[in-house]
Amino acid sequence: MDGLFIFKDKKYIDQVTGTSTLSLLAKKDDFEIMLYEIKADRPNSITPGDFPDLMEFYYIVEGALEINDGDNVVKLCKGDYFYVSNIKETVPVRALEDTKMLYVSSKPVYNLLYTYTGELKNLLEKSEQKDTYTHNHSNRVQNLSVKIAEKLGLSSEINYTIALASLFHDIGKFFIPNEILNKPAKLSEEEFNYIKMHSYYSYDLLKGKFTDDDIAQIVEQHHERLDGSGYPKGLKGDEIRIEARIIGVADSYDAMTSDRAYRKAMTPLEAIEELKSLAGKTYDADVVLALEQVLKDESVI
Ligand SMILES: [Fe+2]
Ligand SMILES: [Fe+2]
Repeated sequence: MDGLFIFKDKKYIDQVTGTSTLSLLAKKDDFEIMLYEIKADRPNSITPGDFPDLMEFYYIVEGALEINDGDNVVKLCKGDYFYVSNIKETVPVRALEDTKMLYVSSKPVYNLLYTYTGELKNLLEKSEQKDTYTHNHSNRVQNLSVKIAEKLGLSSEINYTIALASLFHDIGKFFIPNEILNKPAKLSEEEFNYIKMHSYYSYDLLKGKFTDDDIAQIVEQHHERLDGSGYPKGLKGDEIRIEARIIGVADSYDAMTSDRAYRKAMTPLEAIEELKSLAGKTYDADVVLALEQVLKDESVI
């Protein structure tokens, strides 16, 4: 029938998956209806839009979440809803369980918000495929980084930034030749200098892709070390953002506990002992302690 549109069996107009999944269900002129799925315990947020008069409506179809209204944390369950119009600040949202929301926007936000995340996600997958030893590395580093940030009691806004920065931290490896990434021997100085470029490439890929450039800056710093021995800039102590110090520890832990072309994996306990021996020198001592606590909570060590 003319004018009737039916979609069955999870066929959507379009869908992108980043730290969350957004499916475009229907679109007419500026108006969009989407399904927004967020995973339990993953920090998310609703950010002020680029359009004046933007109205965004969210109806919880499944799951439960907490939303911070500035003064209080409010728990919302299936059947509850909220909407935002002309917000000035980011509203932190945290799913208590895997949550699905019907998301209606009065302006076209689907592409603006998520094309970048979708494209970046594709590039990230390609980067990970290049390096045979880092399968799922980004997801594991993201998982640990978010847990460390929570253990340290950082704000959910910072947690959201960390979730994105940690996921994309090595995306710049896409531009590093496979022979260098997978070389089964110690790298020459020249080859190592090549590897070091990935921090900058990651920065460059992420710059301008999100509403703030914090994510790009954090990613650029993920190999900086407290004593200035890191790269690319040799930053020291507080010059390195806390988010980057967290990702640096999670990243090193994951590298130590994974098999590499040139060495076997360490056990979690060996890795945490190694990190503790370097705490305060190259790694942030509070961050290392938080990681140890996370691993103990999960009975990994
Ligand atoms: Fe890296
Ligand atoms: Fe990494």
